[in-house]
Amino acid sequence: MSRNVVMGVTGGIACYKAADVVSRLKKEGIEVDVIMTQNACHFVDPLTFRTLSKNPVVTDTFATPEAWKVGHVALAEKADVMLIAPATANVIGKVASGIADDMLTTTIMASRAKIVFAPAMNVNMYENPIVQENIERLKARGYYFIEPGSGLLACGYEGKGRMAEPPEIVNYVHRLLSEDTEAAPASAKVRDLEGKRFLVTAGPTAEKIDPVRYISNRSSGKMGFAVAEAAFSRGAEVTLVTGPVKLSCSPGIRRIDVSTTREMLQACEEVFPDVDAVVKAAAPADFYVVNSCEHKIKKKSDTITLELAQNPDILKTLGSRKKDQILVGFAAETRNLEAYAEKKIADKNLDMIVANDVSAPGAGFDIDTNIFTIITADGEKTAYEKMTKAEGAGIILDRIGEMMRKR
Ligand SMILES: Cc1cc2nc3c(=O)[nH]c(=O)nc-3n(C[C@H](O)[C@H](O)[C@H](O)COP(=O)(O)O)c2cc1C
Repeated sequence: MSRNVVMGVTGGIACYKAADVVSRLKKEGIEVDVIMTQNACHFVDPLTFRTLSKNPVVTDTFATPEAWKVGHVALAEKADVMLIAPATANVIGKVASGIADDMLTTTIMASRAKIVFAPAMNVNMYENPIVQENIERLKARGYYFIEPGSGLLACGYEGKGRMAEPPEIVNYVHRLLSEDTEAAPASAKVRDLEGKRFLVTAGPTAEKIDPVRYISNRSSGKMGFAVAEAAFSRGAEVTLVTGPVKLSCSPGIRRIDVSTTREMLQACEEVFPDVDAVVKAAAPADFYVVNSCEHKIKKKSDTITLELAQNPDILKTLGSRKKDQILVGFAAETRNLEAYAEKKIADKNLDMIVANDVSAPGAGFDIDTNIFTIITADGEKTAYEKMTKAEGAGIILDRIGEMMRKR
């Protein structure tokens, strides 16, 4: 499958976030060519995009005839997806009006690729009926839009207009790239989880020993965050309950940060009755420290003894209360993977388990790839090759989507 993204960067503050988008796309193994408008070059130097994309950056100049020739037609043909991020009110207006007066708009005009805009602008600009009309006109012609988020904008205003977060944009592009182009209509497939409510858990939990020390594990939260982002970009309403991780998520995802396994259980119990599906990708600590200290433990003796007691089993608790929810667990093991995974399905009343051998190269904690086997409650088993966690998230959601449709 070819995976070429031509990315248009236009003149807004969110240009700095566009650099992160390029970096993430490259990590996914996607080829990226960047076209910057002249105004975008005021915000970020082309060198940044050249370094991240490992390709020459086409800036908005017709000074070099070669660049023109290679530029608009070659890139228009090369693109499987064109992503305009950030997309200014100006570029949206120009494309909606059929204006092609620079390298980016000319390439957009010449391209038959799927074209997706990630608008970013001041709330008053975004809500301006002219901008809204332009967006509607483009949507009606099959252009895609990744909705901006709400919040405090760089201009100091509060409201809608903040460019979607890079993980959401990357997921959206990913979906467009992996779609069957013959399937109709593409937008329906991208938003196939619209109206569904998901609870996703991610990361480790941390059990306190004293105010400065804790017991935890190597989970980075990447798999859970990838599932949450993918579900969100496919239209689901997502609550993400996460342990301590160094990851950010799209503002549209309802994020609940917790520290301990007991806190994670409490958050999940509150959300569980109202969701359609649960993906429990977290690695909660199995034990907590019974004799944790209120003050920092001093080095008074050579040894100290920590007394550990079992934490509640979140998956089992949810499994025992399950009504119509689809419950998906993860089994991270280092041996007897399938046997453990099958036992877990039965013991915890799961609909599906994603089993991965965390000791295998390319699978497991704190890396961007995974290798897993999906086993369903009716015994169907599918082993998948090594893939990025974003691709893995897509597969897991496809399988949940299938289950939802059969119900
Ligand atoms: C500091 C600054 C920030 C700006 N931020 C935005 C923005 O976020 N969104 C937007 O639509 N325009 C923004 N503009 C205005 C655009 O840069 C202007 O409309 C320009 O003509 C866009 O050109 P381009 O679409 O060819 O890149 C900003 C201008 C300045 C000076």
